[in-house]
Amino acid sequence: MELKIFKDKITVAKEFCDFFVDLLKAKEGLTVALSGGSTPKVVFDYLAGHDTAIDWSKVKFFWGDERCVPPTDEESNYKMTVEHLFSKINVPEENIFRIKGEADPEVEAERYANILNDKLPLAKGIPYFDLVILGMGDDGHTASVFPHQIELWRANKNCVVATHPDSGQKRVSITGKVINNANTVVFLVTGAGKAEKVEEILNKEEGYEQYPASLVNPDSQQLVWFMDKAAAEKLSK
Ligand code: 6PG
Repeated sequence: MELKIFKDKITVAKEFCDFFVDLLKAKEGLTVALSGGSTPKVVFDYLAGHDTAIDWSKVKFFWGDERCVPPTDEESNYKMTVEHLFSKINVPEENIFRIKGEADPEVEAERYANILNDKLPLAKGIPYFDLVILGMGDDGHTASVFPHQIELWRANKNCVVATHPDSGQKRVSITGKVINNANTVVFLVTGAGKAEKVEEILNKEEGYEQYPASLVNPDSQQLVWFMDKAAAEKLSK
């Protein structure tokens, strides 16, 4: 595990962009599972504006999770990605494998699980991503596996249907077995609201394993936390 701590969100975005470009340079193609929420917005904006032309035709885009809403809904991770990335770059439509938030959640979880089996190489019989990008909620959730449903992390499936603990919103999420099968996993975690869980998880404090983010531990051992100082604030204490 590697911690990369930078002074602010923009620097996190710049540094992750450089990391991504280096990963892409080293490969013929790259499969990536994107995260949602707000943190990726600044990262996607930066990636889209990257001064060195990125050959986006080499990248295949998937999602680690999606809210069960239409792709036109403000809550949609796909919509956010179109606004901050796809609308600004030249990516072939056939390289985008969105989770259909408008579909029946259980049906879509099954469909997407099959997409992962069909479109990704398998390692140990499990879909294998070159890169999984994750965020972490203030409650320690990641992808859309929340502490109150932590058993979903260990589901023997590629995808599950989760429920947001506050809003009750349904979500389709990939599971721990897919996340921990990836070649590289990157956390993008910024803001003071994350500091408490970052400290509990990275310092393995009492009860830390109740947080799904603490269970991210790729077999490859290639796990990188990109954080700003605010999110890492309590680590140095
Ligand atoms: C989502 C996510 C989720 C997100 C965290 C952090 O669909 O919301 O994929 O796991 O990464 O909630 O979200 P922020 O970056 O907005 O804090």
